[in-house]
Amino acid sequence: MSKSWAVVTGASSGLGVAYAERMAADGANVVLVARSVDKMEKVAASLRAQHGVDTLVLAVDLTDRAARAELVELLKERDVSHLINNAGFGTINSFHEISEERILSELELNVVALTELSRAAVPGMLSRGRGAIINVSSTAAFQAIPEMAVYAAAKAYVLRFTSALWGELKTTGVRALAVCPGPTETEFFANAGRASAMRRRRTPEQVVDATFDALGRHRPFVVDGTINKVLAFTNRLVPVDLQVAVARHVATH
Ligand SMILES: NC(=O)c1ccc[n+]([C@@H]2O[C@H](COP(=O)([O-])OP(=O)(O)OC[C@H]3O[C@@H](n4cnc5c(N)ncnc54)[C@H](OP(=O)(O)O)[C@@H]3O)[C@@H](O)[C@H]2O)c1
Repeated sequence: MSKSWAVVTGASSGLGVAYAERMAADGANVVLVARSVDKMEKVAASLRAQHGVDTLVLAVDLTDRAARAELVELLKERDVSHLINNAGFGTINSFHEISEERILSELELNVVALTELSRAAVPGMLSRGRGAIINVSSTAAFQAIPEMAVYAAAKAYVLRFTSALWGELKTTGVRALAVCPGPTETEFFANAGRASAMRRRRTPEQVVDATFDALGRHRPFVVDGTINKVLAFTNRLVPVDLQVAVARHVATH
């Protein structure tokens, strides 16, 4: 059995479960990280039964810096083949109506934890001459979005940070990839406070397929789905006032 591990954050739901399934199907042992232990134990049992891999469930609130320490140590010590920084959440509401606590948690999870975990994993990957840091961004990274101001800015950070890391690691055998899904069928919108927003959604499995296709082609980032790709790239040609007006409409309908 392989000694290497894939670490998947946000592995209790949505995209994280699909990433964990893909890694196990590819033969990697899987560390599942999130807060919901029961959900992760069910996923882990299914991975062991279906794929014969080892699993480790870590219940960690990744917004808590002290609680992240165990995971940081694990990333430094184990042979980690893939770190998939997938845990994240957004909020759909006016900036001044979102609590300060929620805004800080959103940044801590989507930006600070992702950066700290990447920093913990890269040196070991470099010493082994292989590995992949997969950071889940969003198509929200491509424009400012009223009613999702903090989320869109945080995901822009993930895209820029990861693309720069890709540039630093390019010749080392270690890869970095930012994944930009558009609306996808998960718990994301319910957790963001608007379950009914953006009904035309892709599946987690489609996002995972796009991820591993892009990883195989050594891309710095990937936008999942043809329509999402077209929207992300044409956005750059549109003046900011129009971009923002369209983004607000799309985020809230
Ligand atoms: N779905 C979309 O439309 C969409 C589009 C673009 C990007 N994304 C991104 O995709 C990623 C995965 O989200 P999803 O769509 O799969 O949504 P989801 O179903 O809500 O899953 C979010 C995952 O993050 C975990 N998580 C949330 N807060 C956490 C915390 N404080 N500590 C540890 N884990 C935490 C959740 O687990 P627990 O609650 O058990 O902790 C859950 O496993 C996110 O980064 C999201 O921003 C989603």
